[in-house]
Amino acid sequence: MGLNLERVLYTSRARGNADNLMMQVEILAVSQRNNARDGLTGALMIHDGRFLQVLEGAAQDLDRLMRRLADDPRHDEVVVVERAPIAQRDFTGWAMASVRVTPALADTLRDTVGGAASPRETVARMQQAALAQAA
Ligand SMILES: Cc1cc2nc3c(=O)[nH]c(=O)nc-3n(C[C@H](O)[C@H](O)[C@H](O)COP(=O)(O)O)c2cc1C
Repeated sequence: MGLNLERVLYTSRARGNADNLMMQVEILAVSQRNNARDGLTGALMIHDGRFLQVLEGAAQDLDRLMRRLADDPRHDEVVVVERAPIAQRDFTGWAMASVRVTPALADTLRDTVGGAASPRETVARMQQAALAQAA
């Protein structure tokens, strides 16, 4: 680990009832278990029928997860906004943080889906939210 570190930021469209808390809890539980195993970290939020997720880890582990995500019927329209090498993680300690939506984050999500937000800014806002929630 540490070599080959990359970050993926993607959006997708929730299928079925996006407000289904049971679904969200299940996704988080499996994510935290698998990501701890695979050395992946990141954050996930859902709002207005859209997921926004940032993932960090080794390229081959990200590839494997992106393949599983592509096959997951709980969402579709998976659009990778950015995939890039990173020098260090922003979500150390979070196998998968669940970011609660604030009005500002709702705007960020909408702008990210619409291509109007810079990926770096979006990730920074999600990190700030995860840190604020943990405090
Ligand atoms: C929006 C969304 C985000 C997800 N994030 C992750 C994740 O970070 N890690 C993960 O392992 N699975 C994640 N999943 C679940 C995967 O698509 C897949 O169901 C799961 O990895 C299968 O794990 P299993 O083979 O251990 O059952 C996510 C699913 C959705 C719909």
